[in-house]
Amino acid sequence: MDRECRWSAGMILCFCFFVLTAHSVYGDVTYSLPEEMKRGSVIGNVAKDLGLEVNKLSYRKARIDTEGNQKRCCDINQNTGDLTVAERIDREEICSDRISCILQCELVLEGPLELHRIMLKIDDVNDNSPSFQRDVIKIEISESVTKGGRFRLNEAHDADIGTNAVQSYNLQRNNYFALSVNTNADGGKYSELVLEKELDREQQDEMTIILTAVDGGSPPRSGTAAIHVIVLDANDNAPVFSQSVYKVSLSENSPLDTVVVTVTATDADEGPNGEIEYEFSRISDKARKIFSLDHKTGQIKVLQHLDFEEESKFEIRVQAVDSYGLTGDTKVSVNITDVNDNIPVILVKFINSPVHEDTLIGAEVGIINFQDRDSKENGQVHCSVQENVPFKLVPSIKNYYSLVTTGELDRELVSDYNITITATDEGFPPLSSSKTIHLSIADVNDNPPLFEEQFYSVHIQENNKPGSSVSKVAAKDPDWRQNGTVVYSVIPSDVNGTPVSSLLSVNGDTGVIHAVKSFDYEQLMSFKMIILARDNGSPPLSSNVTVSVFITDENDNFPQILYPSLEGNTFMTEMVPKAAQSGSLVSKVIAVDADSGQNSWLSYHIVKATDSGLFTIGEHNGEIRMKRDASESDNMKQNLVVSVKDNGEPSLTATCSLYLLISDNLAEVPELKDMSYDDSSSKLTFYLIIGLVSVSTFFLTFIIIILAVRFCHSRKPRMLFDGAVSIPTAYLPPNYAEVDGMGTLRSTYNYDAYLTTGSRTSDFKFISPYNNGTLSADLTLQKTNCIVDDLTGLAVDCDQVQYTC
Ligand SMILES: *[C@@H]1O[C@H](CO)[C@@H](O)[C@H](O)[C@H]1NC(C)=O
Ligand SMILES: *[C@@H]1O[C@H](CO)[C@@H](O)[C@H](O)[C@H]1NC(C)=O
Ligand SMILES: *[C@@H]1O[C@H](CO)[C@@H](O)[C@H](O)[C@H]1NC(C)=O
Repeated sequence: MDRECRWSAGMILCFCFFVLTAHSVYGDVTYSLPEEMKRGSVIGNVAKDLGLEVNKLSYRKARIDTEGNQKRCCDINQNTGDLTVAERIDREEICSDRISCILQCELVLEGPLELHRIMLKIDDVNDNSPSFQRDVIKIEISESVTKGGRFRLNEAHDADIGTNAVQSYNLQRNNYFALSVNTNADGGKYSELVLEKELDREQQDEMTIILTAVDGGSPPRSGTAAIHVIVLDANDNAPVFSQSVYKVSLSENSPLDTVVVTVTATDADEGPNGEIEYEFSRISDKARKIFSLDHKTGQIKVLQHLDFEEESKFEIRVQAVDSYGLTGDTKVSVNITDVNDNIPVILVKFINSPVHEDTLIGAEVGIINFQDRDSKENGQVHCSVQENVPFKLVPSIKNYYSLVTTGELDRELVSDYNITITATDEGFPPLSSSKTIHLSIADVNDNPPLFEEQFYSVHIQENNKPGSSVSKVAAKDPDWRQNGTVVYSVIPSDVNGTPVSSLLSVNGDTGVIHAVKSFDYEQLMSFKMIILARDNGSPPLSSNVTVSVFITDENDNFPQILYPSLEGNTFMTEMVPKAAQSGSLVSKVIAVDADSGQNSWLSYHIVKATDSGLFTIGEHNGEIRMKRDASESDNMKQNLVVSVKDNGEPSLTATCSLYLLISDNLAEVPELKDMSYDDSSSKLTFYLIIGLVSVSTFFLTFIIIILAVRFCHSRKPRMLFDGAVSIPTAYLPPNYAEVDGMGTLRSTYNYDAYLTTGSRTSDFKFISPYNNGTLSADLTLQKTNCIVDDLTGLAVDCDQVQYTC
């Protein structure tokens, strides 16, 4: 059997077995030696120690045997008997950390076989440095750990044992940690990091501290490890916004989805602790509908149309929340800027329509209000009225304007206006709107009726039929309705003592002039009357026109022979001297014609003559002249029948007889009695006297009757009008009533505007013709008449008229 050193611990067990089995070995020898001796180093002289003979060693083939397949750790020098180190002995390798490390081997000698146990006690040498399992020790420590927190660090190992093993630890100087070294239950030394100052990840999120382990060898050896401390985040930071107030200006016409602002908050914490969500923290309901907030990005967008006029400023509070619920908060102040998006509104607050045409210049006819919801210049409204109307706008209070007249109104020219009001604001671009106000002009009785002619002349043929219409006047009044309704009447005047109304009348409605009676040119050739045209306004306006009436002649008068008188009296005898020569004037027939003009142009002719050759008559002047010289042979008494003829159509003729006496001596005149006197002449005178007396008597009686009739007649109360018409008495010409039946003809209706007190403004309407029961407007007048008549004390028969007063 070879003796060999044993290495491993397992081998040692085998060795024990060996010891048990080789019970009869001679003696043991123990050597103590440090590890790591050089090969060949002498451990001891085993021969000497065992008492063996050195010179027999080689003979006996002395050798060292190790058990099993262990490496030989020592050798024996057969010459000297020295035990030497065969190979490197590493205690740590052989014995690990066992405190005693003994190698066993056997010295085997042959012849006789001899076995000696040799024990090598290997002493430790500080040949190993402490070492950590890893060069870098990673420790994660939450920043929330409080002071005093302990963190165990792995031990450092040193293969050496005993004092050569790790004896102490040193920690690199640092701000946060101290080192606490403790001993294990098994005696090992471990260290703990003790937190001396609280960590703040946000300040320093990691650090590396060198930990040194030192053994107790001499000299000591050391090993280091880096402690890499990672400070773990604790959610100790609230999110912080980049600005405490976000001020944003936003135009009101911003489209939807416009980004108003993006709020950003940062959280110093890490990971989930630093994950931020945004939310509105304080927001009005209105703003909530208008703005949206992206929870992730913090983007605030426009969700609904903005309206500066509704809300011009929003204040929104936004908070950022991290996942552990810590919040930060900021304010977003959104100013909405105005855009000219509102059209000015024109409101007619009041309009005085219809406006009377006599409205003074500058009078207010309406109040207009302008509104523009925009602000500043966008809401500044300018207004105007179109050019061609007599109105303008005058600023009143604030946005109120008065619509006033700038000129006189005349309904008769323009009866209504369309006033277009335009309002423009000062925005850019400006907005404008317009409104048309319809204003009508109410009538005022400002126009008197105007006659179409400056004056009228009327020619009436005499001997006309009474009641026939002879002419017509017309007046125009441009006013409205009753203000423009023309009523004609004759202004009373006298024509040669007769009231003009007894000559002519005018139809109040039509202006047709009627002859009341038959005219006689020879009595009345012309006269003037004034016709009044009056409207029905209140008060009424009127104008008058002069109507010149000319009666035209008709040949209705026979020529009237003034000389010689037709009475056939004998004194109408002309003396013709016997010596009258041809051409000398003998006599003259003088005739007149009441007619005029042609009708009164007279022509004279000798119709019959005693001697037709003796006298001639001037056709135009009626002068009777000698046609030839008178001679003795001529008859002394000459008789001429002369006709006087007017030039009318047909012409009228009058005749007369002329007695001429050709004589120089008046003594011959008595003879004339024969010529002129008839027997009947005295009888005629008698009849004449009787006739005259009876005519005078008749005339007197007639006068008396006329007077009586007249009295009675004047007592009867007079109706104002023949027709069933009531005229406001106040506006009647004073003696309008005198016209009576022959005067102004009225239509059978009138307006009731003056009969009732409350209907001044009503339109006119027809009323039924009044009868006895409905005398109203005229009652006063009639009653007065009655009383007056009573006062006169004359026999009055008032009862005959039905009074309702
Ligand atoms: C005013 O307007 C109305 C309706 O548009 C029209 O009938 C009328 O003739 C106008 N009047 C004037 C004076 O322009
Ligand atoms: C007539 O004129 C008067 C004022 O002179 C006025 O009050 C009245 O309304 C007018 N009548 C009509 C029908 O226009
Ligand atoms: C007729 O009219 C004139 C003015 O046009 C006025 O002076 C005169 O008094 C009037 N005559 C009567 C009788 O009303």
